[in-house]
Amino acid sequence: MTLLQHLTLLVNNAFEKVNIPIECPTLISLNQRPQLGDYQINGVMSAAKSLNKNPIELAKQVALHLIDNDVIQSAEAIKPGFINLLIKKEWLEKTLTLHSKSPQCGVQATQNPQTIVVDYSHPNIAKEMAVHHLRSTVIGDAIARTLSFLGHNVIRQNHIGDWGTQFGMLIALLESSENDMDTSELADLEKFYRAAKKRFDQNEEFAKKARQYVVKLQENDPYCIKIWKKLVHISMEQNQRLYDRLNISLSPEDTKGESAYNDLLPIIIKDLKKQGLLIEDHGAQIVFLDEFQNKDGEAMGVIVQKSDGGYLYSTTDLAALYYRTKNLHAAQVVYCVDARQKQHLEQIFLIAKKANFVHQDMVLKHYEFGMMLDLEGKPFKTREGSTIKLSELLDESELRSANLLAERNFDVDEIDRFKVINALAIGAIKYSDLSKNRSSNYVFNWDSMLSFEGNTAPYLLYAYTRIKSIFKKTQHIIVTEEDTILLKDETEHKLGTILVRFNDTLYKVESEGKPHILCGYLYELAGQFMSFYENCPILNSNLDITQQKSRLMLCDLTANTLKTGLDLLGIQTVERM
Ligand code: ARG
Repeated sequence: MTLLQHLTLLVNNAFEKVNIPIECPTLISLNQRPQLGDYQINGVMSAAKSLNKNPIELAKQVALHLIDNDVIQSAEAIKPGFINLLIKKEWLEKTLTLHSKSPQCGVQATQNPQTIVVDYSHPNIAKEMAVHHLRSTVIGDAIARTLSFLGHNVIRQNHIGDWGTQFGMLIALLESSENDMDTSELADLEKFYRAAKKRFDQNEEFAKKARQYVVKLQENDPYCIKIWKKLVHISMEQNQRLYDRLNISLSPEDTKGESAYNDLLPIIIKDLKKQGLLIEDHGAQIVFLDEFQNKDGEAMGVIVQKSDGGYLYSTTDLAALYYRTKNLHAAQVVYCVDARQKQHLEQIFLIAKKANFVHQDMVLKHYEFGMMLDLEGKPFKTREGSTIKLSELLDESELRSANLLAERNFDVDEIDRFKVINALAIGAIKYSDLSKNRSSNYVFNWDSMLSFEGNTAPYLLYAYTRIKSIFKKTQHIIVTEEDTILLKDETEHKLGTILVRFNDTLYKVESEGKPHILCGYLYELAGQFMSFYENCPILNSNLDITQQKSRLMLCDLTANTLKTGLDLLGIQTVERM
């Protein structure tokens, strides 16, 4: 059990003893005023209201039932009806000692393991992955790693945009160039795409040919399929290089693009029709949803097949859900897709439930995120506008990190230098995105992301190496299985209360789908470690050996927690800098 689960159980028991109905939530949270307690119970006030009782009197009664256990030291009712809780030192010491010996830093596997599909990254083929897919990739990867760490069966699905009319003009351009498979020319797919688009817009003959190729491709013409496959392959090879460079846990096996559902699309339409969910309008097939209304207050329609027989983005998404239920046996699907697709996904979820493409209790979540903005608050990249290539962004980050390292005169050799630059460069880009609440837009700022102060990757990476350097000076102190953590100093105690929260923090990341909660936690942990370390020297001749060992164990648990936490964010640590 995590600490919060433990407390919830105890408070529920106390509620029962004073006849508060089981439906009343306990509402336990971290104490807003930590000097008064570690946690606080906020649920008594609303319970008192519904029972028509005096809140502070009720809180006092509840508090009386909260002290006879291993976890709670004191429970104090305060006006108007809060209860402040202090955690027992002995419980903290015992738990931390256990956690210090656990490879997972004491994090417990979920009691409800599920198969969860995480749909993320999903770049579009023949357009190089640019910054607007970066957020999905970085956030989705942190979510996937965390869910899997908690014991879920995570299936990553990279729903790439690998089908559509753009392939007609690409094939047409390739065919007209002398060497029809010149890979070097395709190295810059974005450029190639722009060239094709320009020709398409200017040359009617070319446009006609391109349209013919679209039809041929849809009819599985071998020549078109061959070229299309090659284009997808080249594009995804480039993307995989970026994933590897960014330490993203996606591999080619996770790719299941739009084209993979082609054969399912007619089945989806047939099924919808059979269930009476389709209405034909000017030859197009539409699902009308009463739950969504247009500006005239009428039910909104979602087109699933065009009048020319063509399918749409929404049809493919329905097919993907069908597949994820029937073939992947998912109990939950999480979409890390930008906020602009909110309505699209809500409609797909609704249609899929109505049509029984998914189980009625299937959990479908859209982890939406805002835009990436530049310093002026303008979109970092627009779909059509000039592109900032991701690979160039990473190059720049490396350059800036190298300069930073040179400025600070760190004592690292050449091999380490390379590792440190890489950790800083990639860590900074990922962490600055992950540490912001994903729901809002996010401003990309080199200076703040590469600062050694504040809630940043450099700060945390450096804090980690500082803890690691302690062990070099204390090699003569050997910690054994029997040694325990003892919390004597106040800063030590505070560090302990934070360390023990790692478990609950990860479950909160799971329930809210927000990695910034983990970032905030790691930042708080690193900060408290610094005050502990200032106040609690280890190599102090007045300190007895049990205390020295206890402090070293705290250092070790802090380092492991930081490393594990950063790893869940997809950020690599270095041992020295
Ligand atoms: N490729 C799409 C885009 O760039 C995102 C796909 C999101 N995933 C999904 N299942 N619709 O907009």
